[in-house]
Amino acid sequence: MRFSTKAIHVGEERREDLAPPLHQSTVFVFERLADMELVARGEKYVYTRFSNPTLSLLEKKIAALEGGEAGIAFASGMAAISALTLSVVKSGDHIISTDIIYGSTHELFEFLQGLGIEVSFVDTSDTESVEAALRANTKLVFLETPTNPTMKLSDIKAVVDVVKDKNENVLIAVDNTFMTPYFQRPLELGADVVVHSATKYLCGHGDAMGGIVVGSAELISGMRRNVLKDFGGVMCPFNAWLIIRGLKTLAVRMERHEKNAMAVARFLEEHPRVKRVYYPGLESFPQFELAKRQMHGFGGMLSFEIGGGMEAARRILEGVRICKFAVSLGTTETLIEHPYTMTHRSFPNKEAFGITECLIRLSVGLEDAEDIIEDLKQALEQV
Ligand SMILES: Cc1ncc(COP(=O)(O)O)c(C=O)c1O
Repeated sequence: MRFSTKAIHVGEERREDLAPPLHQSTVFVFERLADMELVARGEKYVYTRFSNPTLSLLEKKIAALEGGEAGIAFASGMAAISALTLSVVKSGDHIISTDIIYGSTHELFEFLQGLGIEVSFVDTSDTESVEAALRANTKLVFLETPTNPTMKLSDIKAVVDVVKDKNENVLIAVDNTFMTPYFQRPLELGADVVVHSATKYLCGHGDAMGGIVVGSAELISGMRRNVLKDFGGVMCPFNAWLIIRGLKTLAVRMERHEKNAMAVARFLEEHPRVKRVYYPGLESFPQFELAKRQMHGFGGMLSFEIGGGMEAARRILEGVRICKFAVSLGTTETLIEHPYTMTHRSFPNKEAFGITECLIRLSVGLEDAEDIIEDLKQALEQV
């Protein structure tokens, strides 16, 4: 089966109703005490915080799309990332993380430092820096590529090669939220684990929060036993149902997000008030060659820098009429936001990483590209 066929059919081969049922139930009823034997073999459901048939369908589909053995769903992307890290590292262990990373992931790793876990924030786009940061106690390398919000890429395969060469037990995880498995499949490049904020493109409509981890069956069943069951960050079955519905159109949506983003990026690149555009699909993007090699497309996310400081940024953000001034990404609507004061507000040393007062992030939606461009054009004229 190919990508879209998998997204639509995996886990739904034998059923009378066309749309998947929603198991909006906290518990599952037993007939015999001996049914606990079935539970132990994973053949019967007990309680939704452990597992649920609607969640299982979502987990099966996303694992198939990423090419992993198993998946596990959480209440949000951050619930998934925190569950993964807590299942892999303990006090005295070491994590290497991409330096420019989603703000809450950065804060989570800072919090872990308070629990006795060492964290090195490294420019993972430079493979030699990753190699230099490796220690005897390194347990996890966490990559976000492209990074949020400057779209900087890490070469997943090159990082896997240097890390595994030194210590094959180090787990390499990739946050694949921006690209989705349609445009990037880290496991095929040698990574061990993929995490997602399913709140974004996987859901696609901005109406359900969720997080997913995909990896080996052993890792995922361990996470279910420990971090899911005992920390309890389970996804709501209705959200899983919405995300399953979203997955069925993921390929067509991603194609359109990318087509629109490319048109918007080219428009911005030519605009006299725009100083710089960060979009991996532009020939001017410093890692364009890596983007073509590592990804199957360039996605729908871009950032751009304008002249005129905070006041100019404010005028654009407040001046748009079709684009929505909001955080998050991956929705049908184009979203525009200001990383400096919003998503990356508490990020240390922002300017050094290119997160300036003049940086604006766009999640290009599914509207007609001409309308998005006209809207940005009139907003830029207000500067
Ligand atoms: C790249 C990335 N990873 C993780 C998250 C966290 O996901 P959630 O908001 O679903 O917890 C986000 C949220 O914006 C994100 O952009």
